[in-house]
Amino acid sequence: MSFTTWVRRGHPILFGLIIFLAIVEGSLATWLTVKYNAHHDYPNKSTRDTTRFLVFASWWTVLFSFIFAGLFFHSSTGSVLTSVASHGIFLFLTWIFWTAGAAAITQAIGGGNNCSDIRFNLPYCNQLNAELGFGWAVWLCVTVALIVVIVRAVSAQRRGDGMAGQLV
Ligand SMILES: *[C@@H]1O[C@H](CO)[C@@H](O)[C@H](O)[C@H]1NC(C)=O
Repeated sequence: MSFTTWVRRGHPILFGLIIFLAIVEGSLATWLTVKYNAHHDYPNKSTRDTTRFLVFASWWTVLFSFIFAGLFFHSSTGSVLTSVASHGIFLFLTWIFWTAGAAAITQAIGGGNNCSDIRFNLPYCNQLNAELGFGWAVWLCVTVALIVVIVRAVSAQRRGDGMAGQLV
């Protein structure tokens, strides 16, 4: 199976996985933000602010991944949004969001916590652990997608298509 076939088959799977994980993350972050706004029971300001940022990053990722996956499914070579360049720009920006967001939430809550053996007050401990885990899971999938696009960009250059070349 050629790399092109592999990319064509893998695209909906990887984007589907990103959408699924980002919906879970977005739901957790939105739920926590609603709680924090109502009760002000965040453990520190950086947890509150990072959670707000993850609300944005998650729904951004869901929306644009859905558009990219839909257009690719409709026609894998049909438009500017199925090109190497548009995938590269979207995934690079999204990768920056998730690198920043996942690192920040890890720092804010001090890594994953054992919620049954916690030495300080941490409301919504389980949800925060899940937010941490799903945040890194999205980051991992976006990283894989970005690496694939970089590999495709190199071969598009070799073909002489340049960055406007199609992904498959
Ligand atoms: C978490 O803390 C509880 C209570 O001290 C302990 O029984 C359990 O083994 C700990 N779990 C982990 C994963 O460390």
